[in-house]
Amino acid sequence: MLKATFKALLILSLMTISLGFTLYANKVQLSVTLSKYQKYRHLCNGTNETKKPPPYRMDPNRMSVHSNLIYPGNYHFILDDTEVCRSIIPFLVLIVPVAPANWKARDAVRKTWGSETRVQGELVQTVFLLGLPSSGNIVVQQEHVLKENLQHHDLIQSDFIDSYHNLTIKTMVIMDWLASRCHMVPYAMKIDSDMFLNVENLVKMLKMPGTPTKEYATGRLKSQTPVVRAKDSQWYVPEDIYPERYFPTYAVGMGYIFSLDMTRRFVEVSKSVPSIYVEDAYVGLCMKMLGLEFTPPPNRNHFRLYLFEYNRCSMSTGITHILKSPEQLMTYWTNLKKPGPTC
Ligand SMILES: *[C@@H]1O[C@H](CO)[C@@H](O)[C@H](O)[C@H]1NC(C)=O
Ligand SMILES: *[C@@H]1O[C@H](CO)[C@@H](O)[C@H](O)[C@H]1NC(C)=O
Ligand SMILES: *[C@@H]1O[C@H](CO)[C@@H](O)[C@H](O)[C@H]1NC(C)=O
Repeated sequence: MLKATFKALLILSLMTISLGFTLYANKVQLSVTLSKYQKYRHLCNGTNETKKPPPYRMDPNRMSVHSNLIYPGNYHFILDDTEVCRSIIPFLVLIVPVAPANWKARDAVRKTWGSETRVQGELVQTVFLLGLPSSGNIVVQQEHVLKENLQHHDLIQSDFIDSYHNLTIKTMVIMDWLASRCHMVPYAMKIDSDMFLNVENLVKMLKMPGTPTKEYATGRLKSQTPVVRAKDSQWYVPEDIYPERYFPTYAVGMGYIFSLDMTRRFVEVSKSVPSIYVEDAYVGLCMKMLGLEFTPPPNRNHFRLYLFEYNRCSMSTGITHILKSPEQLMTYWTNLKKPGPTC
């Protein structure tokens, strides 16, 4: 009992410190922050909030009720003390959406591609974006997040509930963070934590003559993707939300790149884009609404999907591969960095 009280006090003081930082850095009005703080505390009160099944599955039409749920202006940053885009202005920001509890994946990224900060003479920085813990022991998870950030200062946390069906919110919060902090930065990439990323090849591609510096978005493009209408699918989209049979062309969500000017435009247009929970198709809808098209990558093989077994040649020539686990990322990375021929 006493231990629990002490723990709660510790978390509370840590939260106060991080809120203090946010307050100081963003000059947010005290009252606004305090009400957010109350909301947030309530969520961390070990309630059964988290045991609810995702409302999306129970009642897909909920989405139309919350049609404005995705607009990132609805959410606030509760942890945001990274120097990235403050004192450090990189050429490329790698921003990784990750669940609060997935510290293992963050560690693997920090030890592999996230550690590549000087590439082709350019500065590259990696940060992680998290929502609030949504299941499991949320108090312990939040405590871990705060401690981890004290050590690395690379976590950005917003006050939406971090869950699978909130991935579109997460993506738009990423856009919002970039738009409001990183306007001096030429490019950003949204990249999942379970990816292998060849930063060298990515920067080379971005520095190639002819790569657009404005209105640019690229990745593994997917066209004519049918909209899923099976109600039990995790990708189900109700017809009244989005009536078309196909999605417009979009870049597969595992990792896509955009020039920074796009971020503000995505945020603005998200007020009028149908709220679908398929995050990469949503970005495609934003592009379409803006009257813009994705730029195909110079080489389609740059953005690969699953890699079933280690392939040194493919990893050394491509940009992305989807992996199975943080352990696999560490093993493959170590192997690739060994001297010797790659192909
Ligand atoms: C936390 O939960 C306890 C018991 O469920 C309740 O009495 C208390 O008011 C809650 N505190 C907050 C801040 O919600
Ligand atoms: C949460 O707990 C309260 C009582 O502690 C209970 O009345 C309520 O039904 C629970 N909600 C869910 C969704 O389990
Ligand atoms: C998504 O986040 C919003 C805002 O935090 C929350 O109200 C909603 O319950 C979340 N949805 C799911 C499915 O977690």
